[in-house]
Amino acid sequence: MLDAAIRDELKALLGPRGWAEASEDNPALRDIHGLGLPALLLARPESTDQVAALMRFCAQHQIAVVPQGGNTNLCRMALPTEARPTVLLSLARMNRVLEINPEAATLTAEAGCILEVAQEAALAAGFILSPDWGARGTASLGGAVATNGGGLNVVRYGTTREQVRGMEVVLADGTVWDGMRSLVKDNSGYDLKQMFIGSEGTLGVITRLIFRLHPAEPESRTMMAALADLSGLMDFFGQARQIGGTHLSAFELMPGIGVEKALARYPDLRRPLEASSDWYVLVRFSGREAVEDLLGELFEAGFEAGLLTDAVLASSEAQARNLWEIREQMIPHQYFPGQVMLKWDVSLPIDHMAGFLAQAEDTVRSLAPQGLCYAVGHVGDGNLHFSCFLPAGTGEDTQHAVYETVDALIWRLGGSIVAEHGVGALFRDRVARQKSPVEYAMLQRLKAAFDPEGRLNPGKLLHPPT
Ligand code: LAC
Ligand code: ZN
Repeated sequence: MLDAAIRDELKALLGPRGWAEASEDNPALRDIHGLGLPALLLARPESTDQVAALMRFCAQHQIAVVPQGGNTNLCRMALPTEARPTVLLSLARMNRVLEINPEAATLTAEAGCILEVAQEAALAAGFILSPDWGARGTASLGGAVATNGGGLNVVRYGTTREQVRGMEVVLADGTVWDGMRSLVKDNSGYDLKQMFIGSEGTLGVITRLIFRLHPAEPESRTMMAALADLSGLMDFFGQARQIGGTHLSAFELMPGIGVEKALARYPDLRRPLEASSDWYVLVRFSGREAVEDLLGELFEAGFEAGLLTDAVLASSEAQARNLWEIREQMIPHQYFPGQVMLKWDVSLPIDHMAGFLAQAEDTVRSLAPQGLCYAVGHVGDGNLHFSCFLPAGTGEDTQHAVYETVDALIWRLGGSIVAEHGVGALFRDRVARQKSPVEYAMLQRLKAAFDPEGRLNPGKLLHPPT
């Protein structure tokens, strides 16, 4: 069938409000890396039944399906990247919180629900929905689960994977799997929901979810500290973990250069500390009772041990918000226009983080003397968003050499080049080198079991078997 006829049938199937043109001016066709390849249209179904009908239609006509949540990912994950008939699928209309069950401490929602909307609904009922990151106002729950997003709260509550109790998924052939069971324990077979968490839309389309919730912690205090030296990072983290215990709810590393760039670019942000430093950390303690004294204890311990040169405890909600807004502007894509950006989403055994940064910087300098390294990270999770900026016009050979050498360093330290952002199209080739042949073949067999025709988000996460 010709594309025009297919499009007409799809439009009829989805109804007048159920689709939009996938034209270049539609923001859904664009991500942080620019425009994706064209799609037949952007499907905007309103129900699981409609998603299922769409998937059956696409199966019948051999159409690829690229599911898209809030399109906030940083690794080219949710746009068409292969030239073939493709439907871009948004669940933005399936955006309701369906239920909060205070006895079970769970929240049930449609997958297109915006993360922040769900967080606020949970909070109004006295609970925390723990996945949280800067894009909370745009990211969707389905996207959060399909990417197993990490963020600021992992050190306290674990990753998104650990928050999911149940889900409903539409499979590649349009079959609906009802896995909306809210059980803490269920060893009645393979835990299928785990397959879809972090699968990046390559195994099925998540349509509904049940999350576990945590009791709200109304008391929370944030401190920003200037590190005397990066080599003291893990000592200070150790102090925070010992003193804070379960009250430690965030511990973030920020580069001095990023803080300066953010303050210069966003005039509403206020400079928090007089002294400037190469490295800052942002620590938050939270609890049901006041945590101020505890954070004060950490403040003193950090200075006593010579780990800090300056620090401030936010004394109001507005001051704390200012600190967190600075943190949310640490993503460097906006700060080095025109330069070549190489990036890693490094995961390491946490005791290797400071050592990795020193070694990675040496490596970059030896291969590209003008290279600038930039790192921001979730220290408690062993996760560093590490980038390297090279002058415009730096040759591909140098870029490859830097990628290969830093990747190899990460693997030598027992790490992964992708921690929380996912693989997408951007990291696919490099991740293939991270996995053993045994592991890669298992992943390919899993993919084939769920999507034998390779139509779900093609070009992302995995290479097809050769
Ligand atoms: C962060 C997100 C982008 O850490 O992962 O800011
Ligand atoms: Zn992050």
